[in-house]
Amino acid sequence: MDLQCFLCWRVALLLLVSPCGLQCMSVHVINKEPVHVIPGSDLVLKAHIEQGPLENISVLTWEREPETGADPKRVTLGTCLGRSIKCAGTRSNIHVNVAQKEATLEIKGYSDEDSGVYIVTVTDHKGVKTSAQCIVRIYEPVHHVSVSINVSHSSLVCGETWGTDPHFSWLHERIAITNTVGTVSNDGTTLIVTKSPFCGHFTCMVSNKLGYSSATYTAAPCETGGSGTAAVVVCLIFLLLFGGVLAFLLWRRRRHSNRGERLHEHLDAI
Ligand SMILES: *[C@@H]1O[C@H](CO)[C@@H](O)[C@H](O)[C@H]1NC(C)=O
Repeated sequence: MDLQCFLCWRVALLLLVSPCGLQCMSVHVINKEPVHVIPGSDLVLKAHIEQGPLENISVLTWEREPETGADPKRVTLGTCLGRSIKCAGTRSNIHVNVAQKEATLEIKGYSDEDSGVYIVTVTDHKGVKTSAQCIVRIYEPVHHVSVSINVSHSSLVCGETWGTDPHFSWLHERIAITNTVGTVSNDGTTLIVTKSPFCGHFTCMVSNKLGYSSATYTAAPCETGGSGTAAVVVCLIFLLLFGGVLAFLLWRRRRHSNRGERLHEHLDAI
């Protein structure tokens, strides 16, 4: 009787101490969703397993199903079994492992067909199943960069279609944007142009781990202020001089012919 009571107390204590009692095996994927994988590189997914003091893992499986589609088909990627937890992948490039509350799935040489929803399922010694999932997609290069103008707000908007983690930066005449040209929004997609006049070439560059792509908006050409006015002034002076010389020549010719006439009159009088 005493021994029984002691055991009772022990169980009660264990129930109090462990946050989830005796039966609440739980699992969650540690990776931040969605996971993006560069084709050819390795995918590593890690799941954390929380288990009660009297619980044991009897089976752990990793599966995958398509992210979209009416009838998603599940494919088993790897399984861990038994008290000593022996693991095996279903393909030679898949490695699974369980150690100390952590389950790992590794796929070497990831390809597009490996994308989908990954599901890790833990079955305890009583056959109760718990699972967690994580979306895995391919890491896409930057695609179709374009720049459009918002005339009413004198701003330029940079667009990109489906690259992963795009990073935006702006150039004016191939030089990084400074305060004299404009300000860039926090997400980098919009450039509010403060430069007046609004002129020259504005380039938006979008980059990620796989490279970059860019597009340029061409406004009216920038008149390099000083030399433009100087050219006009030189032209005016030249025109004035030319006009002056012409007027002088005409005046001289006229005077000469007048004199000739007067000479004729004089001679006639004699
Ligand atoms: C221009 O920008 C403003 C402010 O961001 C926005 O409200 C407006 O819809 C934009 N106009 C066009 C034509 O995109």
